[in-house]
Amino acid sequence: MRFVQVPSHREVIHGGKVRGRIILADGTEPLWEYAGTVKCVYVDPPFNTGGSFVMRQKVGEKDWAGGKSSLTVPAYSDRNESREAYHAFLRSLIYSAWTLLDEQGVFFLHLDPRESAWARILCDDVFGEDHFVNEIIWSYQSGGRTTKRFPTKHDTILFYRKGRDMRFDLKAVPIKREDNRKNHMRRLVDENGRTYRTIVSGGKMYVYYDDDPVYPGDVWTDISHLQQKDPQRTGYDTQKPRALLERVILPVTLPGETVADLCCGSGSTGAAAAGLGRSFLMTDISPLAVLTARRRLVDCELTVDLPSAMDGGEIACDCVREGSVERFCLKACFSEGGKAAGTDRADTWAVGELKDGVFTACSVSCRSKQKPALAPYLEMPASPYAAVEITDVYGKRSVWTRVL
Ligand SMILES: C[S@@+](CC[C@H](N)C(=O)[O-])C[C@H]1O[C@@H](n2cnc3c(N)ncnc32)[C@H](O)[C@@H]1O
Repeated sequence: MRFVQVPSHREVIHGGKVRGRIILADGTEPLWEYAGTVKCVYVDPPFNTGGSFVMRQKVGEKDWAGGKSSLTVPAYSDRNESREAYHAFLRSLIYSAWTLLDEQGVFFLHLDPRESAWARILCDDVFGEDHFVNEIIWSYQSGGRTTKRFPTKHDTILFYRKGRDMRFDLKAVPIKREDNRKNHMRRLVDENGRTYRTIVSGGKMYVYYDDDPVYPGDVWTDISHLQQKDPQRTGYDTQKPRALLERVILPVTLPGETVADLCCGSGSTGAAAAGLGRSFLMTDISPLAVLTARRRLVDCELTVDLPSAMDGGEIACDCVREGSVERFCLKACFSEGGKAAGTDRADTWAVGELKDGVFTACSVSCRSKQKPALAPYLEMPASPYAAVEITDVYGKRSVWTRVL
């Protein structure tokens, strides 16, 4: 059976309770459709490093190309014409975020020491100097080990509120009490067997129970970068740990409220928001980022706006009708460029209906670290609108219909 590529601008996946949308878009262009609807925007843009970033991924379930089954694909570039151009980009991004927020909404801008000072001035300008809330230092052990200066071991997250008031619940993010902070205190046990520490300062006695929650300040040392083998790792460079996003989201949002990320990369913000029962809205300019984020969120009620490719590729797919059900079997997909071929090229595939350019999935199969193989068959109720969707390891989405 022959299949041909057809245009599709959007995909809808009906799934869990959490609603989310991922859009291939330039984050500097305001999403007016969502203006004033978002409670928290977190943005982790390129840091003006001058570098290029990649996605490293395992491909397929078997070895290919001389025994290698991993692939490195360009993800995004952080090269700017000039520092001024980068600042203009940042300013537009900050303004886009501002437009999305409701009056109680808050903004987090994640940068490193290269541009954080300039970004503070830009944020002051857009949000107002008196709407600055915190400069958070995310301190970590990983990173460079230069001896020519003090090695850089922190990022900076600027925190602003849009309106006069914001809702903030520090108690939503308790942390573990660090043992070294209480060593110098006297350790006692109360009548209920609870251990506590005391210290006298300025003539006043302070009592701290060991099992009392403690809360973070503006220097975060308890969240590490993702380790090589961390199951969260998608292979997308510069992916941030979920725990960091949870720390940002929890104090400022309630379940059901919307969290946005304008440079979503691998989708860590959406993954954290969904896990906490918040809706999410994410954009990225890289198709590979949109598809990486999509793969992490296919269990949600998800809309993905990513135009399908019309590049003259081919797929080999069988389709058999059994009563009211159609069964599709994906055998291969081919396209210009890239090493991966056959079904190794496919990262996920789905069957569903295509109407007015919108593909609505009935059944989806994604590779994962735990289950690297794609489902060989997918079924759906027989439909004249039946279509097959493939997202490939190079960041391309394609939609196919049968030529009867
Ligand atoms: C540091 S990464 C984000 C990583 C992300 N926080 C994560 O955890 O995976 C920066 C992202 O910004 C995206 N980006 C760069 N310019 C953009 C623009 N104008 N609009 C939207 N996204 C952009 C890049 O494609 C890249 O995915």
